[in-house]
Amino acid sequence: MKLDAKALRYLTSEDFRVLQGVEAGSRNHEVVPTPLISQLSGLRGGSGVHRSISNLAKTNLIAKVKNAKYDGYRLTYGGLDYLALNAHQKQKVVYSVGNQIGVGKESDIVVVAHSSGSQRILKIHRLGRISFRTVKTNRDYLRHRNTGSWMYMSRLAAMKEFAFMKALRENGFNVPEPIAQNRHTIVMELIDAFPLRQISKVPHPEALYSELMDIILELARFGLIHGDFNEFNILIKEIVDPTGKGKGKASADADAEDSDENVRLEPVIIDFPQMVSIDHVNAEMYFDRDVNCIKRYFQRKFHFVSDVPGPFFADAKKNFLKNPGKRLDVEVEASGFSRKMARELETYMKEVGADGDAGAARDDLDEDEDDEEESSEEEEEEEEEEEEDEQPGQSSTEVDESSERLEKLQVSESSAP
Ligand SMILES: Nc1ncnc2c1ncn2[C@@H]1O[C@H](COP(=O)(O)OP(=O)(O)O)[C@@H](O)[C@H]1O
Ligand SMILES: [Mg+2]
Repeated sequence: MKLDAKALRYLTSEDFRVLQGVEAGSRNHEVVPTPLISQLSGLRGGSGVHRSISNLAKTNLIAKVKNAKYDGYRLTYGGLDYLALNAHQKQKVVYSVGNQIGVGKESDIVVVAHSSGSQRILKIHRLGRISFRTVKTNRDYLRHRNTGSWMYMSRLAAMKEFAFMKALRENGFNVPEPIAQNRHTIVMELIDAFPLRQISKVPHPEALYSELMDIILELARFGLIHGDFNEFNILIKEIVDPTGKGKGKASADADAEDSDENVRLEPVIIDFPQMVSIDHVNAEMYFDRDVNCIKRYFQRKFHFVSDVPGPFFADAKKNFLKNPGKRLDVEVEASGFSRKMARELETYMKEVGADGDAGAARDDLDEDEDDEEESSEEEEEEEEEEEEDEQPGQSSTEVDESSERLEKLQVSESSAP
């Protein structure tokens, strides 16, 4: 299920209204009956509507549902993508669509461009896409879910991520600039950097390690726990620092010998749909998981073990009470992403096994090797060979094919009603 941007060019304004009609009907009908589509599209029934329905079905923006008691259609992810992209385009947020750079379990990441030519990131949330790791446990659940639920949940994930990114950014955290949110998608600044996962060497791991732990503590001081703080969700920017007091150049190339002391490494944090409040019932578990993810990764990858224990949740909490930042968990609630929405999303994510990259990364490790006992010697070698930088669920051929397909695409100017 990738963004199929090719279909975007061929819609007439009638098609577009019918598509909007199917979307509106999908909110409370699992299968939207054809007469309702006519009515909601605001077009007079007859051959026009039927022709549009048939066009939309041919391009997979809607799908006919056969086994229903009545004839009808449902919106597909492709249809929802179309509507969201169209809105971004109308608001002049996105001008053209480029390569897909990531296919995660619960999202697709696409490079898009603004009319000025500057590149941006479009993140498309796909909650309810069947994860191959959880197919067995969730098949029944997913069979019974309706279109409304995946659409709604993916939209909640996008809303949540956007709200947190905005609040974090406004309060000085190093996160991409959030630009727009529509339906199940967000548009944000493109960070020109590799995820930590792809960095094979860091000259001063202790400095980066303590900076990352400081970020975890600083988030807590603002009432938040990331919940998926790991090597995929930390991008490492290299900033050239002419004063020469940097922490040294990171290297994605294992052979690079020299480290450049003029380059400072700057972590940028991404991926916020699973962020929780410091008051969450499982806050301590999430906090420890974030901390241990980094500890464990630094040990395995950079053979660095800190001689300072912690940080511990109790200390973070104490610091939060003594020297609190603004409560961003509360601020986000006030911004429209309510506590009720947060609960709905959390329940759904648990049910479909959406455990973020942390879960994926753990599975990944478990598959690569038996690493219950940390026998570092062996791991060292395997780690060297293993250098594949894809996230689980992402296949490079898949990404390449889709990049080709999306190349040179421009979103149609004429599809809005
Ligand atoms: N703003 C961005 N700039 C550059 N790369 C990004 C950006 N957002 C995401 N990515 C890339 O896409 C990958 C997946 O993005 P992420 O938001 O973590 O999605 P998921 O929820 O699927 O894990 C990241 O690991 C990173 O490599
Ligand atoms: Mg991620």
